[in-house]
Amino acid sequence: MKETVVSGIRSTGKLHLGNYYGALRNFVKMQEEYNCFFFIADLHSLTTHPTPGDLGRTVREVVVEYLAAGIDPEKSTIYIQSDVPEVAELYLYMNMNAYLGELERATAFKDKVRANPDNVNAGLLTYPVLMACDILLHHGTKVPVGKDQEQHLEMTRTFGNRFNRLYQVDYFKEAFAFTYSDKLVKIPGLDGNGKMGKSNGEASCVYLSDAPDVIRKKVMRAVSDSGPTEINQPKPEAIQNLFDLMKVVSKPDTLSHFEELYNTCTIRYGDFKKQLAEDMVLATDPVRSRIQEISNDQEYVQRVVKMGAEKASESARKTIREIRDIIGIKRLY
Ligand code: TRP
Repeated sequence: MKETVVSGIRSTGKLHLGNYYGALRNFVKMQEEYNCFFFIADLHSLTTHPTPGDLGRTVREVVVEYLAAGIDPEKSTIYIQSDVPEVAELYLYMNMNAYLGELERATAFKDKVRANPDNVNAGLLTYPVLMACDILLHHGTKVPVGKDQEQHLEMTRTFGNRFNRLYQVDYFKEAFAFTYSDKLVKIPGLDGNGKMGKSNGEASCVYLSDAPDVIRKKVMRAVSDSGPTEINQPKPEAIQNLFDLMKVVSKPDTLSHFEELYNTCTIRYGDFKKQLAEDMVLATDPVRSRIQEISNDQEYVQRVVKMGAEKASESARKTIREIRDIIGIKRLY
């Protein structure tokens, strides 16, 4: 039997190149080998109180972009978390043996409390319980997440094992973080330091849905410097980042051409960025047009999420039935 992969996708916001070349291309490969559940974590996003309008819009956007980027609804189960309310029931059960102390100690929780001291709600505290339920609901054993989610996975194992011990069953399996490819490409941002990511500022990100002119503008404004002054001078971070991006979107010949210009101090960053921007526009063109196409096809989007909801519900209902039985919740009528 194929192992089950579960991954929650944040419902806030659009995909950027970092998501695309990093996680997403692995999702696309994973769906060939595993039984994959990819869901839009709209319930999780309620901790920050999005407006109803924003919530609906961003959820749809994310579905469209994941489909455009290659998630295949015939191979994977792609669904919206709130379409499968069984997760909320499981969340209630699991909350009964998640302890205040361990929830308060979670790093992500402490970070959020520090960042938003006025919004320390119970949903935020129990966020890891809901996340555990997302995984346990489908008996996921592999979870493709980054380092920042390791602790949540450890909590998922704790909650599952604790349930097993409490009811003396061997019901929940342990889930582990899963790096699909050992050569994860790092996509730097345009702001001169670090990875591409919204937390590093909007200017660092090129979105898959950005129009060609927006991409050109962003790249032309990318942080650089006044240029190398010595032959074969090591590259400062901002410049190395632009070369790393070029490595991903341009032809090898283009890359080595600009490497050569850099090493001989004859590079002109204006030309370099222009080329980078054009190659970025080209590289993203197929996804951008798919986003347009899918976004305009309301009927297709509806069909996909309905199918996803049905597939996910089937697995969820089975789990809830079994859990109720284990806990001893029985209908008297
Ligand atoms: N917490 C994850 C994040 O911030 C999102 C998420 C929610 C998730 N539920 C999940 C990831 C279940 C994997 C499995 O990125």
